[in-house]
Amino acid sequence: TRPLRIGMIGAGVVGGGVYEIIMNRLGGGSGGSSRNNNTPIITKICVRDASKARDFHIDSTATEVVTDVTSIINDDNIDLVLEVMGGVGLAKVAVMESLKNGKSVVTANKALIAENLQEIISVVDEVNRDGKKAVKFAYEASVCGGIPIIHTLQSGFKGDIINEVMGICNGTTNYMLGKMEEGADYDEVLKEAQDLGYAEADPTADVEGHDVRAKIAIIAKLAFGTNVDVNTIPCMGITNISVVDFEYAKLMGCTIKLVGTACRQSEFGEHDGALSVYVSPKLVPNGHLLASATGCGNAVAIDSANLGITSYTGPGAGRYPTANSIVSDVMRVANNTANAQPFPLLSSIEIDNDYVSAFY
Ligand code: NDP
Ligand code: HSE
Repeated sequence: TRPLRIGMIGAGVVGGGVYEIIMNRLGGGSGGSSRNNNTPIITKICVRDASKARDFHIDSTATEVVTDVTSIINDDNIDLVLEVMGGVGLAKVAVMESLKNGKSVVTANKALIAENLQEIISVVDEVNRDGKKAVKFAYEASVCGGIPIIHTLQSGFKGDIINEVMGICNGTTNYMLGKMEEGADYDEVLKEAQDLGYAEADPTADVEGHDVRAKIAIIAKLAFGTNVDVNTIPCMGITNISVVDFEYAKLMGCTIKLVGTACRQSEFGEHDGALSVYVSPKLVPNGHLLASATGCGNAVAIDSANLGITSYTGPGAGRYPTANSIVSDVMRVANNTANAQPFPLLSSIEIDNDYVSAFY
């Protein structure tokens, strides 16, 4: 066997962390001395500007820097393509073409997955159909950064029925709301979140709630086995929240969080109604587990028939938490344990997104 060879598209906040973990901490770049055959190597990096100074060291003896994605997706010596560039144009082409060329793909790109998961899975199935190829597709980092929520949903509820998922799924806005509650200025804290590497390249996606919308669409697909069209999800971000809202929230013993919700509507306690998916700022009582997410922290609460409420908290954005999720996916591909069919069977739940609540 030979080590898994990776072509990484994008080398910014997330890509830099992935490079450091794989090439330095795991020994991928050590020239082979401390590496075993399972240690992956990043052999190529594709960036927009090859002359740009990076905040991490690229080992030029092990890794070639290129500026054309085709140099990665058409390279027969690359086994796995890591897409950490973002966007839904070139990134989609890179993911689809890489899979068609027989390469596994790991991505952190929630915008891409929310819109195209079904199509991606069809390509994976098609490529693997005759048994000659075994490409994998994994996307743990796309939802809630460092919290392994995708794998939890894929494997932890096989004998259970999920009634509701509520999540703080955006680190940027959670960081901003926390600071605004202390009286900080909106623009200042947005800039801080950008400097900390939490925000999207265009932070409109964060503050308008579109990033949470993509994540709750992915969660809904996994939790309820149904294809929710991301563009039909009612979505309100935090752009209209001001310091005065926190004063009223405080009077009610609450804080304000941006929450993505996917719930089966219930009558007489039975959660067997239509599925509602929406994103909105909510009043969350102090002491509620969603209120405990501070800084860029994320928190997800799942209400299910067997378990009742389980919760998952941790860092939701930033270099190393996100890179950790990606490297976990990479190692699962390297060890051949990644989920080849990362999507449950489709169910026929009715979707009714008119139900929106202002409270937690
Ligand atoms: P950055 O903006 O920091 O990095 C983007 C990288 O992609 C840069 O290296 C850039 O090159 C490269 N790139 C952009 N356009 C092109 C292009 N046309 N051709 C080649 N390379 C290109 O983004 P992040 O690392 O923050 O995010 C990357 C992905 O990870 C996104 O999908 C994001 O949503 C997702 N994500 C981010 C998290 C975070 O906390 N930041 C958390 C979870 C997911 P150059 O450096 O030369 O400009
Ligand atoms: N911009 C995103 C956030 C990155 O702030 O949560 C993690 O997906």
